[in-house]
Amino acid sequence: GAAGAWQLSADSPANRLHLTSAARLPEPFTVPLPLPPVLAPVSRDATTDYYRITARPADVTVLPGYSTRIWGYNGVFPGPTVVSDRSRRTVVTHRNELPVPMVVHLHGGHVPEDSDGYPTDLLYPVGDSGQMIGMPGMAAHSDPLAHTAIGERDYSYPAGQPAATLWYHDHRMDYTGPAVWRGLAGFHLVTDEHESRLGLPTGDRDLPLLLADRAFDAQGAFSYPAPEPMRSPQPGATGRFERGVLGDVVLVNGAPWPLHRVATARYRLRLLNGSNARVYRLRFDRAGGAVPLVQIGSDGGLLTGPEELAELTIAPGERYDVVVDFSGCAVGDRITVHNDLGAGTTTRVMCFEVTDRVTDTSTVPDRLAAVETLDRSAAVTTRRFAFRRGTDGAASGWLINGRAYDPGTPIARPALGQVEIWQLWTDLDHPIHLHLNQFQVLSRNGGAPARTDRGWKDTLYLTATGTAEIAVRFTDYAGRFVLHCHNLEHEDMAMMATFTTLAG
Ligand code: C2O
Ligand code: CU
Repeated sequence: GAAGAWQLSADSPANRLHLTSAARLPEPFTVPLPLPPVLAPVSRDATTDYYRITARPADVTVLPGYSTRIWGYNGVFPGPTVVSDRSRRTVVTHRNELPVPMVVHLHGGHVPEDSDGYPTDLLYPVGDSGQMIGMPGMAAHSDPLAHTAIGERDYSYPAGQPAATLWYHDHRMDYTGPAVWRGLAGFHLVTDEHESRLGLPTGDRDLPLLLADRAFDAQGAFSYPAPEPMRSPQPGATGRFERGVLGDVVLVNGAPWPLHRVATARYRLRLLNGSNARVYRLRFDRAGGAVPLVQIGSDGGLLTGPEELAELTIAPGERYDVVVDFSGCAVGDRITVHNDLGAGTTTRVMCFEVTDRVTDTSTVPDRLAAVETLDRSAAVTTRRFAFRRGTDGAASGWLINGRAYDPGTPIARPALGQVEIWQLWTDLDHPIHLHLNQFQVLSRNGGAPARTDRGWKDTLYLTATGTAEIAVRFTDYAGRFVLHCHNLEHEDMAMMATFTTLAG
């Protein structure tokens, strides 16, 4: 079967792999914040916008004074931002010029099976004539249901999804952690007419911010622990990875602890935690006083109304759409973003410096969007999923309901159109992600959901020995999809399962 033979040692602080950089690191808040390029369509017709993206190795400057080899969509990290209009279909032709197979997943997208990026739907590199098929240690090659391609393929994203901050990233079975660490992640924003009429900050005051920690060797290359993949490590190696890989440098849009110059106005920040394993608790601070965050959206789009927060915990895979108001600031003020879950170099994230006095006409209306409530009483099925360490045959590792990821065997077969309650149970902290549809949080640890759980979510961070109930209605697309831990090392260590949706 797909399960390899890996062993976990007992959990201890020593099992958390904190990588320390050997390269010379810049002073925080000296490197300017980059903004990923917005991708232009190569063509358009009556219904559809067509894009092309090539994943390839590239040498870029991440740390001042060094060149870093990345794997980047169009050779950049983060990849180019795709902006879809809700009323139009988007087709992205992805081309693979990497030395390995890849899989592109649109995280948060409501997408049919064949374009979702199932972990064995490999896109082999251009020119590969099958020499990678059968490479040892590549369990993905042996899935008879996989839809594979060589060189290029289209991913088709239907119209209709409400405005939201989505992202795309590699999702190859057993290798997602190392591939995303090398740079295979980018934003995919969906916009719609309703959102654009609200008066929210736009243009250069609407900033996608991808947070990701990394570590660098003495030559400035990304460090990532060999061996790959996680599933078949050298004997004794796995204990070091079991809580995931953490770096000592916080990158925002690919720049270490950047500085961004702002005006005395509201800014919309689309925060995405694109880290492999690091969780952040963000606090915006101005000379000792907190600057409030106003949450306007979650993973799946706008909330019914804004919610003021003093701080925000964001786990891998999650997005929080917030508005920060700098209009009360003076020119020269600095607003520092802290990470209260960090230590040493990872307590800092980035800095905003107020440089321009302007008149701001943006607003945050009290009513943002109509959000349907999924009602507990409408649920037809309750399922329980335990995310925990365990043993599955010869393998011990991160499991769901006692099983290591095996593409062949679905863990659940929900009927399309019906509401289900899924009870999630975890032994340690895991960010849990479902493909295909967004869900709503009904409860946490038997009590009320957290304030930040409102709206449509696709990734939910559960902390040690936590439970949650979510309501989900899978819709439109029959086929196989996955749920998994979005700690990418856990995902690669098989904490993933297939669910197959059935037409009603
Ligand atoms: Cu962001 Cu299944 O992934
Ligand atoms: Cu996990």
